[in-house]
Amino acid sequence: MPLLLAIESSCDETAVAIVRGEGGHAAEILASEVASQIELHREHGGVVPELASRNHSLRLRGLVEKALAGARVAMPEIDAFAATTGPGLASSLLIGSTAAKGMACALGRPFLGINHLEGHLLSPFLHETRVPPHLALIVSGGHTLLLDVEGPGTYRKLGGTRDDAAGEAYDKVGKLLGLPYPGGPEIEMAARSGNPAAFDFPRSMLHDPHLDFSFSGLKTAVLYTLQKLPPPLPVTDLAASFQQAVIEILVGKTLRAARHGGRKTVALSGGVSLNRALRAAMQGACDQAGLQLVTADPALCTDNAAMIAFAALLRHLHGEQTPLHEDIHPSLPLATAG
Ligand code: KG4
Ligand code: ZN
Repeated sequence: MPLLLAIESSCDETAVAIVRGEGGHAAEILASEVASQIELHREHGGVVPELASRNHSLRLRGLVEKALAGARVAMPEIDAFAATTGPGLASSLLIGSTAAKGMACALGRPFLGINHLEGHLLSPFLHETRVPPHLALIVSGGHTLLLDVEGPGTYRKLGGTRDDAAGEAYDKVGKLLGLPYPGGPEIEMAARSGNPAAFDFPRSMLHDPHLDFSFSGLKTAVLYTLQKLPPPLPVTDLAASFQQAVIEILVGKTLRAARHGGRKTVALSGGVSLNRALRAAMQGACDQAGLQLVTADPALCTDNAAMIAFAALLRHLHGEQTPLHEDIHPSLPLATAG
C-alpha cells in the first residue's frame, strides 16, 4: 500500500503526517504531528506572516523526523511527498512545499501540490472506504464554502462568503468581547452559559435566493450592541446570541443547498466544525431532512497534514503528480462557480 508524507504550512500550524492507503480501503494515519504557533501570534492578536514562516522553517525538520519515527518508517520507504501549495500565506506555503519538493527530488519520488481546501473538504472521509457524491460545507478561519462534490477532484462551488469567513467572524467578535485569540473556541465556551435569545442579531442573507454568506454585518451588529451596553459586558449572552446567528445561517444555507442539489449526504469540515453547538444543530437538521451527516474527527478539523496526505493519496492513486517547477498559489480557488 502506498505511503505518503505530507507537509502543511499554509498559515500558523506546522504539520507533518504519514498516511497509508489503497483504493477501496479506509486510509490509515501512521503519524500526524502538528506544532501550533497560536502562542507565538496571540500577543499580536492575529497571525504575523513573517513570524509564521520563520517558525515553520525552524520546526519542520524536527517534525519530519518525529513523524517518521512515530510511524516506524524510513524516509526511502515513502512513495510520494506532498505539501499544501495554496491558498495561504505565500512565505509560509513556500517553506512546506520547498521542503517536500526537496525530499521528493532527493529520493526520486513524485511530488503532489495540494489545495488546502481540498484537504479540509475530504477530511470527513479519511476513515471511509470511498468519497460519495455529497454537499460539502467548509468552515474555517479563512473560508466559508458550499460545494457540490461529485467525487474526489470534481467540485462545483455553490456559494462562499462575500466578506468575512465564519471563523474570522468568531475571531473578530472574540476580540470585541475581550476574549483571547483565536476567538472560536473561547466564544463556544462562553456561549455555553449564555442565553442565545438575549440579543437578536441579523441572519444576513439567510433568506436570499443565492447560497453566498456574509458575516461582517453580524460582527458590526455585535459591535454596535456592545457599545450601547453599560459595563460589565454580558459576554456569555453576547457570545451565545452571536453563535446562534452563525449556526442558523450555516445550517439554513447548507440544508437548502442539499435539497436543491438532491444530495443525500452532507459533509462538514474546517476549524469551525469543531463547534459542538454547530455539529448538534446540523445533525438535528439533517436527521429531520433524512440526510446523512459526515463530520471529520476533531483532530482533523483544524489545520493538520493528515488531511493533506489523504487528498494527495487519492490523487497519487489516480496517477497524478505535480511538476517540481510549479509555483505556490496563495489565492488558489478550489472550484469555480457553476
Ligand atoms: O481550519 P482552521 O484551523 O484554519 C483555517 O484553515 O483557517 O480554522 C481555524 C478557525 C479559527 O477561526 C478558529 O477560531 C475556528 O476555526 N475555531 C472555532 C472553534 N475551534 C476553532 N470556531 C468555533 N468554534 C470552535 N470550537
Ligand atoms: Zn484550514
